[in-house]
Amino acid sequence: MMKKHSSLPVESGHGGTTGFIRAQSKTSLERLVETSKKMGMENQLFICQDRAAKATALINGKEYLNFSTYDYLGINVHPEITEVVTQVASEFGTSSGASRLVGGERPQHRELEKGFADLYGVEDCITYVSGHAANVSTLGFLLSSRDVIFHDGLAHNSLVQGARLSGASRYSYTHNNCDDLEKKLKAHRKTHKRAVIVTEGLFSMDGNIPDLPRIIKLKKKYNCMLMVDEAHSLGVLGKTGRGVREYYGIAPIEVDIWMSTLSKTMCGCGGFIAGSRELVESLKYGSPGFVFSVGMPPVIAAACRKALEIMLREPERVHRLQHISQYFLEYARSKGLDTGAAQGYAILPVIVGDSMVSGFLSSALFKRGIYVMPVSFPAVQEGSARLRFFLSAVHEEEHVRKTLDAVVEELPKAHAVVEQYRQGHGHESQ
Ligand SMILES: Cc1ncc(COP(=O)(O)O)c(C=O)c1O
Repeated sequence: MMKKHSSLPVESGHGGTTGFIRAQSKTSLERLVETSKKMGMENQLFICQDRAAKATALINGKEYLNFSTYDYLGINVHPEITEVVTQVASEFGTSSGASRLVGGERPQHRELEKGFADLYGVEDCITYVSGHAANVSTLGFLLSSRDVIFHDGLAHNSLVQGARLSGASRYSYTHNNCDDLEKKLKAHRKTHKRAVIVTEGLFSMDGNIPDLPRIIKLKKKYNCMLMVDEAHSLGVLGKTGRGVREYYGIAPIEVDIWMSTLSKTMCGCGGFIAGSRELVESLKYGSPGFVFSVGMPPVIAAACRKALEIMLREPERVHRLQHISQYFLEYARSKGLDTGAAQGYAILPVIVGDSMVSGFLSSALFKRGIYVMPVSFPAVQEGSARLRFFLSAVHEEEHVRKTLDAVVEELPKAHAVVEQYRQGHGHESQ
């Protein structure tokens, strides 16, 4: 019989000693949800959809115009993907079963990695089961306390977490500002051993593009490596969707570490790092998110490989996406909406400033059959809360007009409701 440990608390439940205890107070997002509830808004987070999200989403049997999915080229549930996934699942199952290091690989892993190495014209590529893990694991493993990382002020959380994990010194330069980057390089590069500049190919909050040619010059001048996260630029930028290097006509070799997620244009899940053989080899033997984590399910690898094939075979999808994104930008501007620094490539913010207003506006649009999520602090700077629209090649001009006309109608109402609520509740909603 098992001995009962007398010092262990036996009661659980609310307020009980074994209940979950937070290390931190509630996040600003949780507080925002609570306030929104008091204002009578529905919580749109974690919403459950009835089928694959396309230009429209089906939620509780109701169809919504959908601007909350990263399937930029509208490839998800493509019959060719479904077919290959079915075939691979029946042969290889749905799991890799173990880390590839010890449990071995499947042909789909190497085929996918070769596909991306070829796409970037570099020697090799490694895939991880999550895009977030790819960034954390790569930066965390490659850099150490003697090194330094310079990253864009709006770099994705995974890049920042990876930088933190590495123990390297970390300098965040003003968003998309190469003058500030150079200032920081001048001040801090010399005192460190190795240095990496980290940027995204298309910024996920503002939908703008970094000045990569200038960053490359700076990288050379200050003897740094350069890492570019193409999560939102792969499939979106360039004539054939090859990303920010195609947009600028840059030789792939100018960037040391190419990264992208597989969860967006590639319609799967995971992330990759592409670059020199030496880089990939060292990650394969050392980066914890690869060594100590299961290999990507072969079905996902096969799905992403097929998505890549479709992207390259059908550049018209890229053109359609670029057209509809530019259309959105122009139409929004013509209606006097603030699209910030957006350049009209897949990510289109409509900046409203106040977090509560962005939440209320999103909720009002949802009631009108439009599904778009708000983004507020800390994801973006205080005072620059927004609705963030993700465009896809399958959106049509009519979808855009209908949506932006609704935004124009609902925005002043949202301001009025929030103002009224604030007057009644004082500081509580600030
Ligand atoms: C720029 C950027 N990098 C990395 C990631 C993480 O990718 P994943 O969601 O595929 O894990 C994201 C996710 O949205 C992202 O926007």
